[in-house]
Amino acid sequence: MANPNLKSPLTAILSGVGEIFRQGETITPLPPSFRLDGKQCLITGANSGLGFALAVDLAKRGAKVWMACRRQIPEAGNQVAKISGSNLVEMIHLDLIDLASVDRCCEELKAKNVQIDLLFNNAAAALPASRFTKQGLEEMCQVNYLAMFYLTNQLLEKGIIPNQTYAQNGLVEPNEVPRIIFISSDTHRSSKDIDIDALGYETYDFRTAVQFYGYYKIVMNTYASELAQRLRTAEKIDVSVHTICPGPVNTNIIKEAPWLVRMLMKLLFLLFFRSPSKAAKPVVYLAAAPELNQQTDRYLHYITKKAMDERCKNPEIRQKLWEKSSALLAAAFAKKA
Ligand SMILES: NC(=O)c1ccc[n+]([C@@H]2O[C@H](COP(=O)([O-])OP(=O)(O)OC[C@H]3O[C@@H](n4cnc5c(N)ncnc54)[C@H](OP(=O)(O)O)[C@@H]3O)[C@@H](O)[C@H]2O)c1
Repeated sequence: MANPNLKSPLTAILSGVGEIFRQGETITPLPPSFRLDGKQCLITGANSGLGFALAVDLAKRGAKVWMACRRQIPEAGNQVAKISGSNLVEMIHLDLIDLASVDRCCEELKAKNVQIDLLFNNAAAALPASRFTKQGLEEMCQVNYLAMFYLTNQLLEKGIIPNQTYAQNGLVEPNEVPRIIFISSDTHRSSKDIDIDALGYETYDFRTAVQFYGYYKIVMNTYASELAQRLRTAEKIDVSVHTICPGPVNTNIIKEAPWLVRMLMKLLFLLFFRSPSKAAKPVVYLAAAPELNQQTDRYLHYITKKAMDERCKNPEIRQKLWEKSSALLAAAFAKKA
């Protein structure tokens, strides 16, 4: 059911503040003593905000952390290593504006024989107006959804995330199946329905940008839910897929907003939004909690258990979205050749 309160930057922020005080069935984050030694994690957009905090948290727990970023290489990685005290932090270049960069990132991981246990699809942009990538696709659609669809599917198809469904290399213990975590937003509830035909080419301006930010989250959630379905059989889960809205977090997500709006929002962020390290805790829970070993397709709103918008579960839309996303990628690669 669409929530009309999330349709402008201000109402989205006020709704986010209200969410901090909302009650519901909650999870208990993992204690700092919970270890992830031997696990390999890949986090997109890990040089800033929530992604950076996640990198620190996972590194402190002993995991090997791959920070997939488009800039601040190696400074952001050095900072994570310093704060966490870990020597298991690596950076890898990934710019989701360029699909060839996704290919290079996967090839590098494959060449290094990396096996990812935990993937965090975290990177996203909040643009003030639509613009187009060199592949001819609208940028927020590509960065916040399509390149992530491509990256995730490539990691699965190449067996970089071990799995039986696509790569036949996933013979792991049932309690150690890889997990894929999508960082979403409850703004997906306010979104219009998915327009399969227009996907990739819709335009927006400052007045409608927040709606399109939420729109690409409902698109992403729909893909995440379909992926969860494809990565399981009636008998077993091959790879778990979970989705989370971290709630309002004091990060750099509004860095492209006009100056005055940015200053006003930054003040609200500082006063009311939670810190990235606090917001990272339920994300780590989704990625590692033993009680989720036999579960997939869970949705959290910060620490509260919820269902994602019911429209994400429509099997016909899910199928059509997958086909359209594959077709958009094929067209983008054909154009490039
Ligand atoms: N902050 C909130 O209140 C809030 C609420 C709900 C959901 N979220 C979600 O939380 C996630 C993390 O965002 P954040 O709040 O931590 O914001 P952030 O500080 O701006 O972090 C976003 C990350 O995504 C990266 N990114 C953007 N475009 C990219 C591209 N083309 N290629 C590769 N990386 C790219 C950014 O890299 P650069 O530094 O190079 O731009 C940055 O590392 C996002 O999915 C966001 O939608 C945030």
